[in-house]
Amino acid sequence: MRYQLTPIHCRPWTVSYLSVKLIESHYENNYGGALRRLNAITEKLESLDWANTAGYVINGLKREELVALNSTLLHELYFASMGGDGQPTEAMSAVLARDFGSVLRWKDEFVAMGNALAGGSGWVVLVYLPRDRRLVNQYASDHSQAVAGGIPILALDMYEHAYHMDYGANAKAYVDTFMRNIDWKALYTRYADAAKVGGLRPLEQDPITEKLKSLDWANTPGYMINVLKREELVALNSTLLRELAGKGGDGQPTEAMSAVLARDFGSVLRWKDEFVAMGRALAGGSGWVVLTYIPRDRRLINHHASDHSRAVAGGIPILALDMYEHGANAKAYVDTFTRNIDWKALYTRYEEAAKVGGLRPLEQPEFGNLPSVGVEEVKAMLDTGRPVQVVDARPRASVFRTPEVMQGATWRDPERVQEWAGKLSKSDPVVVFCAYGFHVGCKTAIKLRDLGFDAKYMTGGHSAWKAIGGPIKLHA
Ligand SMILES: [Fe+2]
Repeated sequence: MRYQLTPIHCRPWTVSYLSVKLIESHYENNYGGALRRLNAITEKLESLDWANTAGYVINGLKREELVALNSTLLHELYFASMGGDGQPTEAMSAVLARDFGSVLRWKDEFVAMGNALAGGSGWVVLVYLPRDRRLVNQYASDHSQAVAGGIPILALDMYEHAYHMDYGANAKAYVDTFMRNIDWKALYTRYADAAKVGGLRPLEQDPITEKLKSLDWANTPGYMINVLKREELVALNSTLLRELAGKGGDGQPTEAMSAVLARDFGSVLRWKDEFVAMGRALAGGSGWVVLTYIPRDRRLINHHASDHSRAVAGGIPILALDMYEHGANAKAYVDTFTRNIDWKALYTRYEEAAKVGGLRPLEQPEFGNLPSVGVEEVKAMLDTGRPVQVVDARPRASVFRTPEVMQGATWRDPERVQEWAGKLSKSDPVVVFCAYGFHVGCKTAIKLRDLGFDAKYMTGGHSAWKAIGGPIKLHA
């Protein structure tokens, strides 16, 4: 199964004090790069002989898969986080006041965490914890850390590629810029969606949480913030995963759960081969093997949670194998675990998880009924030689800002549709696109349809084509 690209969520030209050039580069190269890596790793994993592959190879591949997956998911959230006016809405202010004391206190913590990553890298993420019905700020270092079962609703990218082109090493100015661009209305919508998700029973207060409550964020050194937030995440995930590790079943997969595993892994056996091989690969080390539901793709994957802190951002764990206390005979321990899985309870958790939606797609109600086509499909059409007329209808100014044009496409000025439409054939379909897939491409597609062409617009536009690594040529 391949992960599909998501078009950029914010309109790059509306973001204050971050250049279009930087945002485009970030989306096409960093987000697109993560997605392409994720698909390459997935392809590799799909053909892996789990029983006969060395543990260190499994560990390495599963780790890289998690890094690429979270980088993909968090970048999508990052672009959806911006494009607003930076003014907290009343509804969202009330939520932050409930969970952090005040909006200011939340902001102090979030900004201090961003600044504490200056000179390093990572993500600062505002996450909803269904289990405790509250929000927390968390780091996602190395892309791979996340709260197990938490739902991220705001993400700040602190990797240098996110700001260096515009701000040099001035991370503080970039963090301030990000805060000014937060889309608070969209943030509240994501909060409201997340708040519908149910969790387990509430977490008791622990010493780290108490310590953080009284912290003076502005005057605490970055390394101390990093230490505390990291330990908080370890303690939190350790608790969450331990609660999930319940056994007591007969180890016989139910029919319903078997169908789900067959859909996502090919067969129950293939899922089991992978899960068991991952457990055995941790022998001599430690960590969790977790079966997790990914709302974005409506599917399950297995991943490692080493050091308690690794998890899929926004994923919902439904089965966890604890490889910390397995004794010397890891193989026997893993076999015993699988014999005791409570499959009925597992399916109930799957059903709960499957109700959770991913990041809401971009809505353009004015173009609601206009037929569209994804970049992957257009690429497949061109690759297989299906007859299609591809029109690059980016505005003149946008085209002359960069020398690159999609291979297989002809540039046409969207201001002069009447002049060039006659050159197109009415018997073959037309695919038209603009820079990011917002207004210009859609409007051009409408004009062509009015003229009697079978025209669709390509979602995500030129940037999406580049992000999937589609071939380009230089402008004539
Ligand atoms: Fe990034």
